[in-house]
Amino acid sequence: MHKHSKIYIAGHKGMVGAAIWRNLEKKGYQQLIGVSRQELDLKNQTEVSRFFAQEKPSVVIDAAAKVGGILANNNHPYPFLMDNLVIQNNLIESSLEAGVEKFIFLGSSCIYPKMAEQPLREEALLTGSLEPTNQWYALAKIAGVKACEAIRKQYQKDYVSLMPTNLYGPFDNFDLETSHVLPAMIRKFHEAKEAGDQPVKLWGSGTPLREFLHVDDMAEAVCFAIETTFSENLYNVGTGEDLTIRALAELIQKITGHRGDIIWDSSKPDGTPRKLMDVSKMTQAGWKASIGLEDGIKSTYQWFLENQATFKEVKI
Ligand SMILES: NC(=O)c1ccc[n+]([C@@H]2O[C@H](COP(=O)([O-])OP(=O)(O)OC[C@H]3O[C@@H](n4cnc5c(N)ncnc54)[C@H](OP(=O)(O)O)[C@@H]3O)[C@@H](O)[C@H]2O)c1
Repeated sequence: MHKHSKIYIAGHKGMVGAAIWRNLEKKGYQQLIGVSRQELDLKNQTEVSRFFAQEKPSVVIDAAAKVGGILANNNHPYPFLMDNLVIQNNLIESSLEAGVEKFIFLGSSCIYPKMAEQPLREEALLTGSLEPTNQWYALAKIAGVKACEAIRKQYQKDYVSLMPTNLYGPFDNFDLETSHVLPAMIRKFHEAKEAGDQPVKLWGSGTPLREFLHVDDMAEAVCFAIETTFSENLYNVGTGEDLTIRALAELIQKITGHRGDIIWDSSKPDGTPRKLMDVSKMTQAGWKASIGLEDGIKSTYQWFLENQATFKEVKI
């Protein structure tokens, strides 16, 4: 891949898209394209097709999606299924039509069955039932993986799917209803500390095991994918290490300096008991994560403190 190749990052204002943009810009890629939702609604097939015919990118990174935590997914099944299907279909189809040679589809670890053997291997895809709370989003992502696989098989193009574990970092969504667990905890502990070390109420039992990857590591993985020709369609991206939600809460409590109690609200759903990626395929391909969890949370908390007035709160 040349530094002057035209690279379109769909969703470049989102947490992941923005991190990919920063990474590629820093590495000297000169022709990055990004358009806001106001300029191009990715749900509009005609407009997306026209945009591709005009811009003719060589590489497309699909970091645009409707993204949210357990409760948002559970309460809004239709947009989590349909918006994601429509956005990815438009991007994949237009890429094929416009002769895009490299397409990077970003999915999520929730594509794997709820009870799949841990750590989750790529081969576990479609071997069992999905976690009910986010099955809508997962189904859309599975369709995206399969669309890329079909193009690879039929047209021999390097359309690849990267499945990140839970991501966190700058520009995350810090809304307490729709966010993922890690940014929600950062905000809750910080605000409870500011209010005089009030108790912090957290969702679920604290026992599920989760893995977290800093979004700058994810951006490195995407850059690696741009510069690598893959022999297969599907690759997990994570750290290969997990911890309980309780241990995560204690780590964030320490980093934010909160000294009050933690109360677990077991009326809220826990989700899958464990979600750890087997990252050996990506490691063999030549990439591994480098940002440790404690360092990653410290820098994200710092970003949160510096962006109090403007951090993102997604409402559904
Ligand atoms: N966050 C995670 O923990 C995580 C984990 C695994 C995988 N991923 C995957 O990574 C990708 C990016 O996630 P993210 O966390 O960066 O999400 P995000 O911050 O919500 O960013 C998504 C981006 O998509 C754009 N978008 C959504 N609908 C659109 C539409 N109809 N037209 C144009 N743009 C639209 C959004 O635009 P607006 O800014 O206008 O809303 C936003 O810029 C997704 O595929 C997600 O599945 C994320």
